[in-house]
Amino acid sequence: MTTAIRNITKDAMYDAVAPDDFEAMLEVDRYNNRSPAFDKIISATHDHFWDPLDKTYIDFSEPFDLENQALMPEDFFIPMQLDYVRNSLSEKERIRFMNEIVRWNLSAILHGEQGALNLSASLCHVLKDQGAQEYAANQAREEARHVTAFAAYIRARWGTPLPCGETLKNLMVEIISAPEVYKKIVGMQMLIEGLAMGAFATFFQHTTDPLGRKLFQLVMTDEAFHHKFGKLWADRTIPKLNAEEHAVVEDWAAHCFQNLLFNLVNPLQQRAVYEQFGLDADRVMEELQTAVTDEKRREEMKESANIFRVLIKTLLNAGIITERTRAFYAMYVDMDELKAEGDTMVGDAIAEEGIAFLKTVNFRNRGVATLMAAE
Ligand SMILES: [Fe+2]
Ligand SMILES: [Fe+2]
Repeated sequence: MTTAIRNITKDAMYDAVAPDDFEAMLEVDRYNNRSPAFDKIISATHDHFWDPLDKTYIDFSEPFDLENQALMPEDFFIPMQLDYVRNSLSEKERIRFMNEIVRWNLSAILHGEQGALNLSASLCHVLKDQGAQEYAANQAREEARHVTAFAAYIRARWGTPLPCGETLKNLMVEIISAPEVYKKIVGMQMLIEGLAMGAFATFFQHTTDPLGRKLFQLVMTDEAFHHKFGKLWADRTIPKLNAEEHAVVEDWAAHCFQNLLFNLVNPLQQRAVYEQFGLDADRVMEELQTAVTDEKRREEMKESANIFRVLIKTLLNAGIITERTRAFYAMYVDMDELKAEGDTMVGDAIAEEGIAFLKTVNFRNRGVATLMAAE
């Protein structure tokens, strides 16, 4: 059974076994073969440590007037460009509608964080290298605080999260239960983490809620590192793939991208939200499809698609996208512009600023902890 799994492993530190093969972990020789490749990322966790339950870092009791203020500017919401949607809602309803869409988006993020937690835990079961395992265990711990933090934010603003959309749910189930390491790393570390970085950067830059802004920045201080793990894998794997293996990885990436895109922009996934406002999700879907063929509208949508920039750029820089699938991604972002931008990622600067803040808080707290321990 084990031999049937196609892990496409090109570097010993990503060597993997079947998810149920715990005995392989007890091999004596394994313990002295720990790769140091992830040590820097693992020890950096102390620099960007934060606790969602500690008000020194973030205070979820900060209020916000959801009834009279939209959490994001109107041009963030693509359906708001449609006359059908705009004219069906009163001024007050528009604000409530936009905030419910944000609630849906943040719920998807919360479910995504839960997926990242379970995915990292699943990596602990298959990766053989102790260093890689310690990295994955460390990420699982960081994802756990993201679940706590997003659940707390949603509770503070709306009480409860909305259910997970079918497309995102199916994709996460597929990635978490997959025994193949490449599927997990490309699907989660590169695609979902990449989308998360893009989405967090967009929310951070545009949200009108200072508490939300704080939350996104704190989460980004962790996510920037998770994203690096995927990049490290790609650097050590992609150049060594033969043509057939490359095609398998490239197709898998396109499959995951299509699902994520569908989850994010398809009004049918958010049907329950539309129904609440007496809006027909099928009609919104149809009108959006017509709008895509309109050149001007398409350009406006490309602006909104900025959320996909980090993700597509990661795939492009990692060499996963070739001429075979290039056109598919070019529908959403300007590929030449991306290439010209080089290595810097949207969101890295925001994460760095957050880490600088955390270092000062953690330094202060460590002083207090030492004092208390000495008492
Ligand atoms: Fe996360
Ligand atoms: Fe993450």
